[in-house]
Amino acid sequence: MARTVITFGTFDVFHVGHLRVIERAAALGDRLVVGVSADALNEKKKGRVPVFTERERIAIVAALKPVDEVFVEESLELKRDYIAKYAADVLVMGDDWKGRFDEFEDICEVVYLSRTPAISTTALIEKISGA
Ligand code: CTP
Repeated sequence: MARTVITFGTFDVFHVGHLRVIERAAALGDRLVVGVSADALNEKKKGRVPVFTERERIAIVAALKPVDEVFVEESLELKRDYIAKYAADVLVMGDDWKGRFDEFEDICEVVYLSRTPAISTTALIEKISGA
């Protein structure tokens, strides 16, 4: 049976660290579903308005070859519902979240992938705005 993988993120100012995590997540199954965090959620979570709107971020993520389906993640509290809705067999998160999603091991496999070193949206914004 086809194995569905789900992952979540903001994916603002799309960079190679985002691409690598998406590629590695896709390699763990047959179908990759990505939850892209809503603008409002991002503001709450990271305390800043994303550079690119959720529509733009979704358009970029949806255009990637390894991605099969994209949706807007409206709330951090709904992870269990999203996993169930998309019938995910595997939840993939970056290891900055290590251990934080183990509670979902009752409904799917939970995998934490190592982050690509030395790149992040925050660092890029700082680098560009300080240039
Ligand atoms: N990610 C990664 N390697 C990086 C940066 C991000 O593997 N160098 C992964 C995260 O672990 C997550 C996904 O990409 O699974 C989306 O992360 P996101 O928070 O959108 O990107 P960051 O660059 O970490 O953004 P920020 O600096 O705003 O926290």
